[in-house]
Amino acid sequence: MIEVENLRIAHDGRAVVDGVSFKVEGGACLGLVGESGSGKSTILRALAGLNREWSGAMRLDGAALGPVRTPGFHRRVQMVFQEPLAALHPRQNVARQLAEPRLIQRLEPRDPVPALAEVGLGPELLGRYPHQISGGQRQRVCIARALMLDPEVLLLDEPTAALDAVVERHVLDLLARLRTERGLTMILVSHSLKTVRRMAGRVAVLDGGRIVETPTVADLDAARHPVTRRMVEAAIGYRRAA
Ligand SMILES: Nc1ncnc2c1ncn2[C@@H]1O[C@H](COP(=O)(O)OP(=O)(O)OP(=O)(O)O)[C@@H](O)[C@H]1O
Ligand SMILES: [Mg+2]
Repeated sequence: MIEVENLRIAHDGRAVVDGVSFKVEGGACLGLVGESGSGKSTILRALAGLNREWSGAMRLDGAALGPVRTPGFHRRVQMVFQEPLAALHPRQNVARQLAEPRLIQRLEPRDPVPALAEVGLGPELLGRYPHQISGGQRQRVCIARALMLDPEVLLLDEPTAALDAVVERHVLDLLARLRTERGLTMILVSHSLKTVRRMAGRVAVLDGGRIVETPTVADLDAARHPVTRRMVEAAIGYRRAA
C-alpha cells in the first residue's frame, strides 16, 4: 500500500532523512521508532505531502507520488499530527473542525457525534474552541477528524502521547479495530514500545535519519542495534520500576 524508496530530506543543507526505504502492506501497521530528532516526523510529513523538498520515490497503492498531493490523496491518506494544538484551527470550534475535511472534499456532511464517541468524547465539546479543551481531548478531536473521511491509510505521529492510560487503551483499541474491520493501513510513530508492540507487526528503527533495522515486534527483544537495545532496556527498566 505504501512504498518509500531511498527517501532523502535535507534541512539547511543537512540530510535529516537519508536513504530511507520501507514498505507497508495493505492492512498492516508499521511502527516507526527512534530517538528524538531521528527523523520520524519528517518522514511522515513528507509522505503526507507537507514537505515538497525530498528526493527518492514514494508510492501509494503502486502509483508514484509527486511533490504535490491531490484532494483524492488526502481522502485516502490522513495524518494525525504530533502537536494537536498546532493542527487545529484556533478560531474554529470542534464541530467546524470535524466538518472541514468533508467540506473540502465536497462530500455529504456527516454527523460528527459518532466519530467523537468513538474516541470517547461527548457532544458537549462541539461548541468549544481548541483552547477550551484539554490536550488529550485535542488529540482525540484530531483522530476523530481524520476518521471523518473514512481513510484507507492513517499516518499517526505520537497519537496517544497526551492521553492517560485508560483513554490511550480506548483509542488504541479503536485503531486496532479499524485495522481489522476496515483493513486500514497505518504508520505509527511512538516513543512507547508498549504501544508499538500492541499495534504494529514490524518496526522500523531510525537513527540519525537512517533505518538501522526493521525487526518484527516479536523479534524486538532480540534486536541488536544499540538504539533498539536502549529502547527495549528502558522499557524493561520502566516495567520493573512500575
Ligand atoms: N523545518 C526544519 N528546519 C530545520 N531542521 C528541521 C526542520 N524540521 C526538522 N528539522 C530537524 O530534522 C531532524 C529530524 O526532526 P524530526 O522532527 O523528524 O524528529 P523526530 O524523530 O520526529 O523527533 P521527536 O521524537 O522529538 O518528535 C531534527 O534534527 C530536527 O531538528
Ligand atoms: Mg516528531
